[in-house]
Amino acid sequence: MLDAVLRHGKSVDAATGRAFRHLKRADDRGLAAAIVGEVLRRLPDYDRLIDSATKNPLPDDAKARMVLRMALAQALALNTPHHAAISTALPLLAGGPKRLAHGVFGTLSRGNATLPDIPTLPEPIAARWSAAWGDAMVASAAKAIAAPPPLDLTLAKPEETEAMAAALEGTSLLPGHVRRERAAVTTLPGYADGQWWVQDIAASLPARLLGPGEGRTALDLCAAPGGKTLQLAAQGWTVTALDRAESRLARLSENLARTGLSAELVTADALQWAAPAEAYDAILVDAPCSATGIFRRHPDVLYRASPRVIAECAEIQAAMLDRASRWLKPGGTLVYAVCSLETAEGEAVARAFLESHPAFAIAPIDEVALPAGLAVAPEGWLRILPGQLADPGGSDGFFIVRFRHS
Ligand SMILES: C[S@@+](CC[C@H](N)C(=O)[O-])C[C@H]1O[C@@H](n2cnc3c(N)ncnc32)[C@H](O)[C@@H]1O
Repeated sequence: MLDAVLRHGKSVDAATGRAFRHLKRADDRGLAAAIVGEVLRRLPDYDRLIDSATKNPLPDDAKARMVLRMALAQALALNTPHHAAISTALPLLAGGPKRLAHGVFGTLSRGNATLPDIPTLPEPIAARWSAAWGDAMVASAAKAIAAPPPLDLTLAKPEETEAMAAALEGTSLLPGHVRRERAAVTTLPGYADGQWWVQDIAASLPARLLGPGEGRTALDLCAAPGGKTLQLAAQGWTVTALDRAESRLARLSENLARTGLSAELVTADALQWAAPAEAYDAILVDAPCSATGIFRRHPDVLYRASPRVIAECAEIQAAMLDRASRWLKPGGTLVYAVCSLETAEGEAVARAFLESHPAFAIAPIDEVALPAGLAVAPEGWLRILPGQLADPGGSDGFFIVRFRHS
């Protein structure tokens, strides 16, 4: 899995299915996922330790380096006894530099090596975010990656927030939101009868900005796995949910069945789809992106979001917005959102859209509708950075803008 991410630019999710074919037991799968997560959360720190214990630095892509990262993650972060961590790691180097790996591990283990309290972000990411947002944001992001975030839930019925927060032993940052400690979601109260779904609080904001639907039509253009479709349906919109990934739409179907909400599902490429003649009252474009805003849950994004990937995503985002703009009724509302911390996918896309689509203007977001700590930018859009909601457990990074069609 680590090879697939670090050498082939794949996501952990994409690599998992293949890797897990060889791991039948749930506890083995859990351990593998935990090792991968820990290595990716703190890779520069493991590498610094490894380099401190070798005379000649191992090449970046050396197998011995990868095996040592995994052994150290177990020993230093996952409380695996050191002898167990190294004795399960060394067989991975059969025919290779076992003695070297054993020596490095032994030196670090005997020297009581520890990890810094605050992880170090990969250098290219730290440099890019520092240039865009400043050093304080980089420090907040590093702090935020130290541990997986709490569990955020969106409620189908916001009027039940207080009772659900109590039942779930959580707290609420907004009506319709409950935050609690991580847990196996299927065991929590209200799961089986579909009273809520898992959704980071930042990811819940774009659909909230469309308000009550009162039966009007909404197109959710990149819908799967469907948190925002569920919200729109619960808010009373008649929703068409489109996505090109059939397997992800299947999860949306399951979530609709569990919550008793409804939406028309369409499997299609948004850039090719022949939209129906009747325009929509509202469109939500939760576009594919580098996903750097979800680095706390998916630290692999830090190693995959290259400038090339970001530029390619920005082109797709502009093309999607352009197509969506033609399917909206005059007076209709278009919300554009990306879980990205890159200005090229957020602010720059919004500015270019406004320039090339004079019939659209920003409908400024109202601060009253936001959790404490978030502020609307002078342009009227919302940029959510690590650190802004740090006290109650943070949030994903996002860019969200609402346009109105004149
Ligand atoms: C950020 S995710 C959407 C998350 C979703 N809105 C939610 O709240 O659960 C982006 C989605 O865009 C879909 N996608 C990417 N390119 C697409 C395209 N050309 N046409 C349609 N869907 C696309 C992906 O399959 C992915 O499900």
